[in-house]
Amino acid sequence: MDETRDYFNSVAGQWDDMRRQFFGEGVRRAAIAAAQIAPGAVVADVGTGTGFLAEAALDAGARVIGIDASEGMLEQVRTRFSTRAFEARAGDVADLPLDSGSADAVVANMVLHHAVDPGRAIAEMARVLKPGGTLVITDADTHTHEWLRTEQHDRWLGFDRADIATWFRDAGLQDVSVSDTHELCSPSSECGTTAAITIFVARGQKPLTAHL
Ligand SMILES: C[S@@+](CC[C@H](N)C(=O)[O-])C[C@H]1O[C@@H](n2cnc3c(N)ncnc32)[C@H](O)[C@@H]1O
Repeated sequence: MDETRDYFNSVAGQWDDMRRQFFGEGVRRAAIAAAQIAPGAVVADVGTGTGFLAEAALDAGARVIGIDASEGMLEQVRTRFSTRAFEARAGDVADLPLDSGSADAVVANMVLHHAVDPGRAIAEMARVLKPGGTLVITDADTHTHEWLRTEQHDRWLGFDRADIATWFRDAGLQDVSVSDTHELCSPSSECGTTAAITIFVARGQKPLTAHL
């Protein structure tokens, strides 16, 4: 985790440019549409980075808590949204600095492939949802670009959509769907290879009442 944090600290100042090369607006549109954010909603953006999803949630009228493990990213995003309904918190996706049942929606773009235990991370994000709240994750489908492990500290080479759906259901979420964002993630390697990895959007809802 420290190596991942060091990497994101080192690229925090350039992250907006890097992100624009990696993926586009379609990912953000898909994530925010799936989250169905109402004005005044409390939204947690996990692995917020410089606030790509947070910005759209703020524009939808939400109060946003952006959580990230990188101090460098948190510094950028705090400055960026200093006049908006935004709070930045240091934390890990496996142990979020949020009370249980406190968020109307949790969104996370391109963070899950950095998590040590993705199933546990999904359960942790589900924990902080209010009853009826929505979890939305956008991330890479399974791919074979091993160089992303060394060059960008990816822990997982994407995910099988069936595994994502199982982890959502195991976390107690219902109405689970995993579909296509119709966007590609296109990072380039140091030796000149450019990947073209499809990106999914996964959505699930915390039941309004606990099953007995
Ligand atoms: C690929 S970037 C995506 C940033 C942002 N979501 C976006 O779409 O631009 C991954 C982000 O997740 C953060 N991150 C990586 N591992 C994390 C973890 N275990 N817990 C919390 N944040 C993490 C990184 O510091 C980085 O800001």
